[in-house]
Amino acid sequence: MIPLSIPHLAGNEWEYVKECLDTGWVSTAGAYVGKFEEAIAKFTDSRYAISCMNGTAGLHTAMNLLGIGAGDYVLAPNLTFVATLNAISYTKAEALLLDIDPDNWQLDLDLLQRFLEEDTYVKEAACYLKADDRRIAAIMPVHVLGNMCDMDRLAALSERHHLPVIEDSTEALGSTFRGRHAGTFGIFGTSSFNGNKIITTGGGGMIFTQKEDLAVHAKHLTTTAKTDPLDYFHDEVGYNYRLVNVLAAIGLAQMEQLPGLIRRKKHMDAFYRERLGGVGDITFQRVTEGVDPNCWLFTFRTQRMRELLTYLNERGVQSRPFWTPMNQLPMYRSLSYYTEEDHAARVHATAISIPSSSGLTDAELEEVVATIREFYRT
Ligand SMILES: Cc1ncc(COP(=O)(O)O)c(C=O)c1O
Repeated sequence: MIPLSIPHLAGNEWEYVKECLDTGWVSTAGAYVGKFEEAIAKFTDSRYAISCMNGTAGLHTAMNLLGIGAGDYVLAPNLTFVATLNAISYTKAEALLLDIDPDNWQLDLDLLQRFLEEDTYVKEAACYLKADDRRIAAIMPVHVLGNMCDMDRLAALSERHHLPVIEDSTEALGSTFRGRHAGTFGIFGTSSFNGNKIITTGGGGMIFTQKEDLAVHAKHLTTTAKTDPLDYFHDEVGYNYRLVNVLAAIGLAQMEQLPGLIRRKKHMDAFYRERLGGVGDITFQRVTEGVDPNCWLFTFRTQRMRELLTYLNERGVQSRPFWTPMNQLPMYRSLSYYTEEDHAARVHATAISIPSSSGLTDAELEEVVATIREFYRT
């Protein structure tokens, strides 16, 4: 089996984890948490990086820190992983869904602009939906597959309409837009270190912010809101969202390898684009101008997606379909969805992800390509 996206643990992971085990510092205290946070802040040029137990917890924390709650809306794309919407639901706010651009698969900014101009208004530096006068408390762009939308245009729109940006940059560690790292544009950004991501800690996350007070508050809220090192005094409802030391140790070792992992992913992306271009009816995701993507997971579109999926999986080439759009899930079916042609549904019906693990050899990539070519000859 050629795996879809598995971890690449080829550096100092063993050594650092062994040190945690030898010294007993496996849990919520220990030096690796700070070291991992520093390494990732330095790499992304983020002023602050606060670790947490996974990307979903990071998104939830960001929304809590902005005071988002019952009665509020949060704008989000219809095509995303369910965690984006779940995090909104945890705060008791409601998502307002927007369609995606069919070429780059990110938020459709033309549609967003029309929506903001026609359906919302600004009062006392906050954005409201005309239909029911409820606040739209934030917008959450999702950097799907490590690509991004035009972040300059998004920033201009969100500023004009007083919408704080929380980036779901969970898939985009190492991606940049005009030289600036994903996760550092919004008031908050997030990373995920889930097993299939470009680096992994088994499970883990990071919150990015450029503001000191928010960084301090994020650390406080994710570590049970304890105010005193000795006494058990907590000044708000906090969360035990900590990333433990033994996982941060893996994270530090993974960060040391990140530049090499990105180089490998870019090679894989170029390899697939070159060898699969013109095969059958295959079309690729368009990389937005100005974006230098991390090329995390190679995904393309074909009308024969379901057939190809079965064909590849039966032949040991692990492949998977794309996320079901949020408005097709039972718990999110009743949400408002702004769309003209429902591109999210079309991309979902045609997109397939193919093996993209960093450890794949060129021979394995060639085998994936050969199997796909064989399918289109049948
Ligand atoms: C777009 C998106 N949002 C949120 C998440 C949630 O991250 P985690 O699994 O670390 O909670 C993921 C990844 O799993 C994701 O791909």
